[in-house]
This record gives sequence, structure tokens and C-alpha cells, in this order.
Amino acid sequence: MTTTFWAPGRVNLIGDHTDYSGGLVLPVAIHLGIGLAARPGKRISLVSDGDAVELSADGNGDARGWGRYVAAVAQELAELGRPAVGLEGIVESDLPAGAGLGSSGALEVVVALALCAAAEFEVEPLELAQACQRAEQRAVGVPSGILDQAASLLGREGQALLLDCGTLERRWVELPPQLAIVVVDSDERHSLEASGYADRRAELEAGHPRRVRHVVSENERVRATVDALERNDLSALGSLFLASHASLRDDYEVSTPKLDAVVAAALEAGAIGARMTGGGFGGSVVVVAERDSADVVLRGTLERAGGQGWIVEAAAGATRRRTDFHRGRA
Ligand code: GLA
Repeated sequence: MTTTFWAPGRVNLIGDHTDYSGGLVLPVAIHLGIGLAARPGKRISLVSDGDAVELSADGNGDARGWGRYVAAVAQELAELGRPAVGLEGIVESDLPAGAGLGSSGALEVVVALALCAAAEFEVEPLELAQACQRAEQRAVGVPSGILDQAASLLGREGQALLLDCGTLERRWVELPPQLAIVVVDSDERHSLEASGYADRRAELEAGHPRRVRHVVSENERVRATVDALERNDLSALGSLFLASHASLRDDYEVSTPKLDAVVAAALEAGAIGARMTGGGFGGSVVVVAERDSADVVLRGTLERAGGQGWIVEAAAGATRRRTDFHRGRA
């Protein structure tokens, strides 16, 4: 029996570089994601675009590239008591890697769901998100937070997830129907491993005043954004996005000239607001626009700044779908 699993990428509306100090985030899961069609096996044996990963069922073996995430997820789940059942399958993705849209988190989540299902092992979504977060740290040694994995697992259609990363308290915030979310991938590849991500976290923990000022003000902006969404106040929303971008650029210093240019281009093209999203040092910009003008804003931004973009809908979190290939049904 082959089962298909799918885990979405995410775009964080606001609340960046707040998760690892126990602050607030407001992501949505998006329609771009990673699929895995797999069945239980003796070993973990996955293929993506002709690139194979071969590991023992508990994740041990020679893992390179994306295989490091697979291995780390299997190892974390083994530590939680998952029986050592392997997985044979094919990974497919329409989520660009290195675009700051949570692709490694989505990979961890889809593999985790499939490994749990193969071994009939149940883990609550938030506990699974934490296991995947530990896997990310284990795989590449980056001290990242829980934002990406939680968004991929807990996303809801038409809603943003408000998560307190300290207490893990959460609620979902309805998005106004006339608001469109546009994502623009700057084409400047980002990698948490290669970037100053770990440095920023260390500087924050050492009490560097500007880093602390960003986090304190960003947490306030997340609260104010929820308020603006609930009051349908799009002009307040736009100002909060711009203030967040300025704070990430000037106080946290994780933006780049290219990301700044995409933000400026989006505003010139008629956006309500725009800001870099995710870890920074390249990656994507999240733009909010009136739904009626979202196409024009997207096209105008790409014409001015290049890159690629999408109008995204807030999607449901990771899922599992049964398919019975024996009877030839998809
Ligand atoms: C990356 C990390 C997240 C979070 C963001 C910044 O996406 O994986 O945990 O820290 O950067 O908000």
C-alpha cells in the first residue's frame, strides 16, 4: 500500500527572528510544498529528481545533501520510540529550495509523517513540529526555531497561525477576504547554514541592544498585526509591514540590498505593504495587496525587481492521503 503525504511551505506574515527567543510569529502555510509517495520497507530508500537517499530504518548511514534532513528526522523519531520500520518512496516538490519559504521544514515534516505512518506510531502535531525542529538543528547545526515546522503542520485554510513560541499557545486568525498575499522570491539564494543566522542568535542572547530592540518591537508588531487583521485595517497592516522590514534591515541586519529593492518595487507597484520574510540574507519578500490589484502588484514588482512570484492562499497544514495502487486507483 502506497500512501501519499504532503507538507506545505510557509510564508511568515510577520514576527521574524522572534521564534528562538520564545516570541510571537504569524505564518500561513502556502499551496507550494513537498509531496512524498511511499510505502513501508526494510530500509529508508527515497528518490528525488534522480538523487537517492539510502539509510537504515532508524536513520543511520551515509547522509549527504537533503538526505541529512531525512536521517535527522528518522533519528529524532527513533529517540521518541518509533519502531524501526523503513520507507521506500519518491519525493516531489514545487517549493523552491533556498527561497526562504520553509523548504527544509516541509521536507522534515513530510518525512516525519510518512515515517510515523509506516510504523503506526502516533505523535501529536506540536510534538512532531518540535522533533522536526530538533532534526533541522541536528542535520545542519543551525540553531533555528519552530516557525517553519509549526506552520507546515498547523496551517489552516484562509487563516494565519498566531503562535507563542515560548508557551506554544496558539490560535488562528481569519484573513480578510479582500486581502491577497503575494510572495516574491528575490532569486538571491539563502542558506541558514551559510548565513549569519547563528551569529544573530548569539548576539541576541548576549544582549546586543539593537538585536534586542528588534525582537521586542517585532513582538509588539505581531500583536498589532493581529489586531489590524481583525479590524480589517489594511492601512495599519501596511505600516506594520514596513516597520518590520526596517527593523530587520537596520536593527537585526538580516536584509540585503536585493530584498530592500524588492520591497521598494512592490510599494511602487501598488502594494499595501511588503517586508522580507523568514531568515533573510536572501530569500523572499511577503507582500500584502488588495485582492483586486494583486495581479498588477505581482507583475509590477517582478518587472521592476526580477525574481519569481505567486499569489498564495493560506493552505491547510500537512496531510496524509491513502492511495491504493494495487487496484490501479490514484
Ligand atoms: C528561519 C528559521 C525560523 C525562523 C526564521 C526567522 O526560517 O528556520 O526558525 O527563525 O528563519 O523568523
